[in-house]
Amino acid sequence: MNVFVLTGAGVSAESGLGVFRGSGTALWKRYDPMQLATPEAFARDPATVHEFYNARRRNLIAASPNAAHAALVRLEAGLAQRGGALTLVTQNIDDLHERAGSSRVIHMHGELLKARCASCGAVSDCQRDLGVDSRCGCAGALRPHVVWFGETPLYMDEIYAALETADLFVAIGTSGAVYPAAGLVREARMRGVRCCELNLEPSDNAAEFDDRRYGAASEIVPSWVDVILEK
Ligand code: OAD
Repeated sequence: MNVFVLTGAGVSAESGLGVFRGSGTALWKRYDPMQLATPEAFARDPATVHEFYNARRRNLIAASPNAAHAALVRLEAGLAQRGGALTLVTQNIDDLHERAGSSRVIHMHGELLKARCASCGAVSDCQRDLGVDSRCGCAGALRPHVVWFGETPLYMDEIYAALETADLFVAIGTSGAVYPAAGLVREARMRGVRCCELNLEPSDNAAEFDDRRYGAASEIVPSWVDVILEK
């Protein structure tokens, strides 16, 4: 069986990284994304944008994967043993899937622990704070290697190709509010793929899913993986 998993901020919530929408402490309730997560905001006030991502990067470096990340590692190994495969696509810019042990993670919204040159496009590892003086070898300004509002997500061809061979589509910890990620369930349905949602609460597009399980990711993802691997 080929399983396509799309994860969102909810899978990392119990690692202390916070979510964007929903609870009162959600990031986009406390901050205006138009001032922090757009190319225009970076052009206007790069220092403030860097400060926001520097704080998130420090928080990430101090965080650890949780039981939901670990369960997806177990799923990858279990499917491979049975001749299947896992495609793991994440909207998260954290590296907690990799640190848990997932072998290949498709980061459609980029990666916080990487920087990108705004001039030449070169991508480099980045564990440190960035500032307005941070420069690439070509002297171009460095920006976080993340996809901002108004920019095109990464790896979309690869993502749609993986959907073609999927037998099961599973969305975990995502509100279904941001496209094109939120539209992947519809693509899967159009191909006749069964769709399952694992989330704390019904997402914006919960009605699109055939199966739904609600609860904390650290509990519902391991138990769902048990069921899949027993089949
Ligand atoms: P959201 O913050 O929009 O949604 C997170 C979802 O996770 C919500 O539906 C929560 O109910 C759920 N959730 C919270 N805690 C959970 C837990 N412990 N277990 C399971 N689920 C839990 O995050 P995303 O859908 O990932 O994009 O957001 C999509 C994109 O919007 C992000 O990648 C980011 C943001 O703006 C960019 O920055 C481009």
